[in-house]
Amino acid sequence: MKFFVDTADINDIRELADAGLVDGVTTNPSLVAKTGRDFMDILADICATTDGPVSAEVTALDADGMIAQGEKLAKIADNIAVKVPLTIDGLKACRYLTDNGTMVNVTLCFSAVQALLAGKAGATYISPFVGRLDDLAVDGMELIADIRDIYDNYDSIKTEILVASIRNPTHVARAAVMGADVCTIPPATLRQLVKHPLTDKGLDAFLEDWKKTGQDIG
Ligand code: G3P
Repeated sequence: MKFFVDTADINDIRELADAGLVDGVTTNPSLVAKTGRDFMDILADICATTDGPVSAEVTALDADGMIAQGEKLAKIADNIAVKVPLTIDGLKACRYLTDNGTMVNVTLCFSAVQALLAGKAGATYISPFVGRLDDLAVDGMELIADIRDIYDNYDSIKTEILVASIRNPTHVARAAVMGADVCTIPPATLRQLVKHPLTDKGLDAFLEDWKKTGQDIG
């Protein structure tokens, strides 16, 4: 399973990329707004930091507008994936951009049939938002299981499941068990994945015992 980092903060991306934890990046208008920076500059910086796909979201609501914005964004670098919302116009733009060789991430997916539509429109990625479903007391991960089953039923669907709105390590673990293709993970959660209290405790104990041997590996 690939790890994308869900942020527009270049410092976080660089640090996590150095640790080998970044297979790609996803941004959205809210994440861009948090940085206070120019969108095009951010994307150029991110694309220079990773060879993996970098999702850049359009803001137009009509298909022609999405296509025009998508083509502009795709010119920034070869690894841009244009992000479009799961609407009729978004699906239309998805089909057009995909047919013209641009990667497309269809976002704001909250149901299995929406994911089926994105698959039929040739999306490179479908982004189901699991955390926002959990917020409504609906198990977001059940949606991932349903989409996995649906996509596995049809060889013609090549769309990758990109689990989004991840809030904790359990989301990541369950996504991997279900065979999701990608998780996009906020930086803090990505750093949290490595942590386990028993790892820290075990390491402390090993080092204490090692001291007693009086040895030094060098
Ligand atoms: O990139 C979209 C998605 O990951 C948003 O997450 O936490 O705002 O629901 P969240």
